[in-house]
Amino acid sequence: MSKPVLILNGPNLNKLGTRQPEIYGHATLKDVEEMCQKRAEVRGLEISFHQSNSEAEIIDWIHDGIEGCSGIIINPAAFTHTSVAILDALNIISQPIIELHISNPHKRESFRRVSYITYAATASICGLGVNGYPIAVDAMADMLDAKRP
Ligand code: DQA
Repeated sequence: MSKPVLILNGPNLNKLGTRQPEIYGHATLKDVEEMCQKRAEVRGLEISFHQSNSEAEIIDWIHDGIEGCSGIIINPAAFTHTSVAILDALNIISQPIIELHISNPHKRESFRRVSYITYAATASICGLGVNGYPIAVDAMADMLDAKRP
């Protein structure tokens, strides 16, 4: 049995759909989960989708993933720009990691140009709206396929 791909979402992403729709669009996090689920089924992947406003909870999910996942797709939201603790947790992971942002942080305020998470990420996707999520699932499936003997 292959292990699930963790899809982790940070603070305020539970408010997708109503949160600054001019930046993040109108899809809800539930819509995003469904998009990921559909893409994962096509690619034969199992996903485990989570959101938390708590840094500690995100770190605990990453710790569970050390043994329990085949890869991690993470939108750390504002923790991207602040959290050495999430970076340290991701640095324990040997499986592929995709950093994902709905918006393009590089086009926004200068503090968003700094990502602690990038230091641990295998790849980054940003600026594609919520479509970045199924694209990340596809990219993860490609990376996992490439690793298979
Ligand atoms: C975000 C970008 C971050 O700068 C911001 O704090 C978020 C969402 C994105 O998906 O575009 O909460 O990660």
